[in-house]
Amino acid sequence: MYPVTTIQEIGQFVGQTVTLRGWLYNKRSSGKIQFLQVRDGTGVIQCVAVKNEVGDEIFEKCSKLTQETSLVVHGTVRADERAAGGYEVTLVDVEPVGGSVDYPITLKEHGVDFLLDHRHLWIRTPRQRAILKIRAEVQRAMAEFLDAEGFTRVDPPVLTPSSAEGTTELFHIKYFDEDAYLTQSGQMYMEAAAMALGKVYSMGPTFRAERSKTRRHLIEFWMIEPEMAYFTHEDNVALQERFVSHVVQHTLKHCSRELETIGRDVSKLERVTAPFPRMTYDEAVEWLQKQGHDIQWGDDFGAPHETALAEQFDRPVFIERYPTALKAFYMQPDPARPEVVLCADLLAPEGYGEIIGGSERIHDYDLMKQRFEEHHLPEASYGWYLDLRKYGSVPHSGFGIGLERTVAWICGLEHVREANPFPRMLYRLYP
Ligand code: 4AD
Ligand code: MG
Repeated sequence: MYPVTTIQEIGQFVGQTVTLRGWLYNKRSSGKIQFLQVRDGTGVIQCVAVKNEVGDEIFEKCSKLTQETSLVVHGTVRADERAAGGYEVTLVDVEPVGGSVDYPITLKEHGVDFLLDHRHLWIRTPRQRAILKIRAEVQRAMAEFLDAEGFTRVDPPVLTPSSAEGTTELFHIKYFDEDAYLTQSGQMYMEAAAMALGKVYSMGPTFRAERSKTRRHLIEFWMIEPEMAYFTHEDNVALQERFVSHVVQHTLKHCSRELETIGRDVSKLERVTAPFPRMTYDEAVEWLQKQGHDIQWGDDFGAPHETALAEQFDRPVFIERYPTALKAFYMQPDPARPEVVLCADLLAPEGYGEIIGGSERIHDYDLMKQRFEEHHLPEASYGWYLDLRKYGSVPHSGFGIGLERTVAWICGLEHVREANPFPRMLYRLYP
């Protein structure tokens, strides 16, 4: 019996014989030596089987191992500067656990549709593993930051009687004899929770039945939604830049190996520190027009506009005070200019587009009621939301940050789909 360890911890066992439990990632052989690349979820390590040392029987066992066979390896740990993780294992014995015949994902290039069809296996590759690790670390950084700032995590419902962001793009389901929808955003519930707990946040899945097939859109994505009582628009934006800087710097610190595995240029992330640049919507439109874009005041930005705006800077940029008509019904108008709202979108650098949408919320009962009428929102579904303006209403603000877009940016991914373990996209509900 040897001590059982992991590839991540193996450095503590140099010179000793240990047991690793994992899967065969790849194998090479040159006559009397076989090189087994073994992965165990914490990393990949090379285990070397030398025929003269292990004997014919064990050597033969090694040659029968196929890609993704699960196995238990016993071997002696050596420090080796040339090895990827700094260590190598001299194999002593191997015990196959579960066989793997004709593993579909070979180490050659595969098309993305094939990989997505095999997402349940694709996540075993070092690159996908690294991305999932980074996603988990980003979530940890977000929760740790907010917890340390005195926020309370509150979980809003997934099944809702109404929409939070407008009436289209909703997944409709039957809720016994009633109609229900999958949540688009937990915001309205977080506003209620902020009146109970002061500073709150949610972290969970949200759904958009959008027929968009872009590299920034998922049908199901995760959102983190902080909501803060007594926070102004200024307070909101200041919190967001500290939050995003923290998340990026924390990930750089705790995921350096993973970022290296996926080949991310980390110098671009090192610059992401507060304060972030800001432009008003007015300034952004004017700047775009000067650059020759066909855009008028009152138009929403498309992906090319967002990319152009963000490319001016080496860190994310806030675009503030959009036209009231472009944004959701609940946003607080600028008292000096009611045609714009006290909101900001945060655009990530390198063409990743909007990662945060946030605003100060209308807290006045009469104005909110007026908005309900203008937007034809039924009081039967939204009456409770109006109650928040009736009983001890206070100015408050909040924002929503998309987890997959944030991870895609931090990892430098081509498409948000790789930032979700099992992405739901237009025309893809499998696996
Ligand atoms: O701008 P959105 O729609 O804002 C809200 O839902 C607010 N209620 C949030 C709040 O204030 N509590 O979405 C917020 C963020 C976007 O900036 C983007 O990062 C992400 O959610 N997002 C998507 N991510 C992936 N796929 C989609 N289809 C997305 N739609 C929005
Ligand atoms: Mg938005």
